[in-house]
Amino acid sequence: MACASSLFAAVPLAAPVAVFKLTADFKADPHPKKVNLGVGAYRTDDGQPWVLPVVKKVEQQIAEDTSLNHEYVPILGLPEYTKQACELILGKDSPAIAENREGGVQCLGGTGALRIGGDFLRRWYNGTNNASTPLYVSAPTWANHNGVFSAVGFVDIRSYRYWDPAKRGLDLQGLLEDMEKAPEFSIFVLHACAHNPTGTDPSKEEWQKIAEVMKRRLLFPFFDAAYQGFASGDLDRDAWAVRYFVSQGFELFCAQSFSKNFGLYNERVGNLCIVAKDEDNMTRIRSQMEKIVRATWSNPPAHGARVVAITLSNPQLCAEWKANVKTMADRVLLMRAQLKEKLEKLGTPGTWDHLTQQIGMFSFTGLNADQVDYMIRKKHIYLMASGRINMCGLTTGNLDYVAESMYEAVSSIQCQ
Ligand SMILES: Cc1ncc(COP(=O)(O)O)c(C=O)c1O
Ligand SMILES: *[C@@H]1O[C@H](CO)[C@@H](O)[C@H](O)[C@H]1NC(C)=O
Ligand SMILES: *[C@@H]1O[C@H](CO)[C@@H](O)[C@H](O)[C@H]1NC(C)=O
Ligand SMILES: *[C@@H]1O[C@H](CO)[C@@H](O)[C@H](O)[C@H]1NC(C)=O
Repeated sequence: MACASSLFAAVPLAAPVAVFKLTADFKADPHPKKVNLGVGAYRTDDGQPWVLPVVKKVEQQIAEDTSLNHEYVPILGLPEYTKQACELILGKDSPAIAENREGGVQCLGGTGALRIGGDFLRRWYNGTNNASTPLYVSAPTWANHNGVFSAVGFVDIRSYRYWDPAKRGLDLQGLLEDMEKAPEFSIFVLHACAHNPTGTDPSKEEWQKIAEVMKRRLLFPFFDAAYQGFASGDLDRDAWAVRYFVSQGFELFCAQSFSKNFGLYNERVGNLCIVAKDEDNMTRIRSQMEKIVRATWSNPPAHGARVVAITLSNPQLCAEWKANVKTMADRVLLMRAQLKEKLEKLGTPGTWDHLTQQIGMFSFTGLNADQVDYMIRKKHIYLMASGRINMCGLTTGNLDYVAESMYEAVSSIQCQ
């Protein structure tokens, strides 16, 4: 029976995803000096994507390995991969590993790890299938956190104070107050390092205070580690907060992404690392994770996970990878320093110390919405409405133009 009007006539048009819309606008712009500071991926000083040399080498090795095939991998992923991934974030000497109470679930990127972890928590956290458990994300946060956690059914997603715009830094007092006020057993999503979008992380002393309150108030830490290695260039230093929480006896989840630090964006290589109280509880958690993954994507893809597992399990390849990560982190640091220097030399109103104090791929410039609009419309420099820029969008070739444009934007449109 044919129906005259479409069954989908009532589907409303959804707003485009901001960061992809920005890139589309950038691509459509014919201006010769245009710059894209919006994209969430690494770029070389020539403005190009970078295939890490170690990845290229390992991919060659995989292509020539006749023992490999395209059979399904286990539901929870390649065991060697999840083991290596958990070791990377927890540390090889982690008590959780020694006591067999850790486990990994190979997921489709960091997003997949957040999604599977969220799905599990919705069903099983605190003993009941309770969609009303309050789940807190930082203000501001990566926009997709809200989307992912509401998609798995959480109905009470709240935000905790994080960024203090006046001081252009962490609002520790506000954060701790919000944790004190949160209902016991609430879930807190914490950025493990290189907070997106502010580029501002708690110090070790601040993390210790956060852990103290969370332990006392029975709050559950769900870490999001999308940038391990990108913050400091040192993988262990960037894992400090997660390891500290483990040392304090927390049960926790950590969503890991190898998109940025391996440059494997489109291979969707993620891992959900779980730390439980003991091996018995871990076994039961894994059994339920299998059911959730089976119903979601059934089995994960092999290629990216093989690249990561081979690299991390071979000391020489691992050393090459760490050098590649350092190359990326160092380029970001250089661009931060040069942008700050240039803005100061131009006499740009305001202070610019935050550019070098912030870490990771992103910087919260402090440009307001009108100034961002000026940058896009008048200067063809594309950045997020929040004023967030990707430091890798800067190159030796466009730095002067970007700094001069920021000078013009800030001078002609003062902050309200
Ligand atoms: C904070 C944060 N979490 C998770 C992700 C997801 O990473 P993936 O591309 O591996 O899904 C990103 C990517 O931009 C991110 O910035
Ligand atoms: C967690 O479980 C305890 C004990 O069953 C219950 O009192 C509490 O309300 C639960 N909290 C949440 C956030 O689900
Ligand atoms: C579900 O969570 C809400 C909010 O924390 C809590 O009030 C309620 O008691 C929980 N229900 C159960 C059955 O634990
Ligand atoms: C782990 O789970 C078991 C139930 O099988 C429980 O008896 C035990 O107390 C749990 N471990 C901890 C540390 O809570």
